[in-house]
Amino acid sequence: MSNLPFQRRVPLLNMSLTEEDAHCAARWLSAPDSPVDHISRLHMHISLMWNTPWVASFMGGRASLYAVIRTLELKPGDQIVIPAFTCQCVANAITFNGVEIVFADIESDTYGMSARALQRVVTPRTRAIMIQYTFGLVCRDIDSLLAFARAHKLRIIEDCAHATGGKWQGKMLGTLGDIAFFSSERSKVVNTIHGGWVVTADPVLGKRLMEIYAQSPAPDADFIRRLLITLCHAFASRQGIAHPGPGDVLPQMHPTELAGLFTPQYAWKMAEPVAELLIMQLFRLDRILIKRRQGAMFWQRWAQKHGFRQPQVHPDAENTWLRFPVWLDEPKEKVAAHLEQALNIETGVWFTTPIHPQPCELANCPTGMLATKRSLNLPTWLWNEAELEE
Ligand SMILES: Cc1ncc(COP(=O)(O)O)c(C=O)c1O
Repeated sequence: MSNLPFQRRVPLLNMSLTEEDAHCAARWLSAPDSPVDHISRLHMHISLMWNTPWVASFMGGRASLYAVIRTLELKPGDQIVIPAFTCQCVANAITFNGVEIVFADIESDTYGMSARALQRVVTPRTRAIMIQYTFGLVCRDIDSLLAFARAHKLRIIEDCAHATGGKWQGKMLGTLGDIAFFSSERSKVVNTIHGGWVVTADPVLGKRLMEIYAQSPAPDADFIRRLLITLCHAFASRQGIAHPGPGDVLPQMHPTELAGLFTPQYAWKMAEPVAELLIMQLFRLDRILIKRRQGAMFWQRWAQKHGFRQPQVHPDAENTWLRFPVWLDEPKEKVAAHLEQALNIETGVWFTTPIHPQPCELANCPTGMLATKRSLNLPTWLWNEAELEE
């Protein structure tokens, strides 16, 4: 393991950015008021890709989920079941709407919600479940989760934040439930620093989504300026050019939302420059996924050789492999430090709590709790030089 040949450190973020993306961002920085309509083009493109008539784009996966909860007309007192292995902005988007979160434990094969755990936590107040494709993996229990929710007339939300372009039995993830949301945040399959979208094929939900979209405010110009600067910086650092320092760079989470408080981003629709960047990346999606799947194959061989427990892959699942998770026998921090040095890679700790990074202990979700301590993830977009050597 010690002589694995990653000459340059393999980062977790920003590997899919290209010079074209950086030029596009720079052009928007110099001419922010260009009269264009990329949003309609984006919505049409997404509608064709996912074969769903209703599409709306927002300023994040979190903003998209915020719109989904309102589209479903979930109200204070209603409950939504989510997996006990997610992040705080997901929880925020739900609780900002006054809806109560109920956690269901996950299974350790694919980090998805366990169907048995779901059955245990449903109450008469449950209105919806959220199926999350963690690390871009199709959940082991996907068919039973869908069947149970349908049998109990629960709305099914798919969290495809990690799973843009993934499929189950040939069907696009995001088309298996009632409504789905996606993310183009910088740690995701496509990267516009912040961004997201919602799709649905249900006409009632579709019309409601369109109303919500029409009422959603545009982001403020300074946020978009900072987003474009962040993208230019991210591309520069991916190229190994010295980072000019934090300056106007946007954080992944604003300190206000980290404190569990509302920020306007949750209500914003997507801005034109972000839509143009997203279209460019969606055109490259096939190539992006090939790259990540090649990386996952590399790690599969590596995990087998070095005795690391890896996810189970169902033959009908086409995972996006946003990250390659390994389940450890000891605390992840120690192993992370070792692997980072031995392999010259960045490792990821998603998620360190059931609603990362917010402290949260869930006695009824032992697998989710254990995953927060024992699951470490590895970057799947590798430098070309490293791919074939083990
Ligand atoms: C599983 C999951 N769902 C949703 C989101 C929210 O996406 P965004 O960062 O675009 O708001 C994230 C963010 O990391 C996530 O990990």
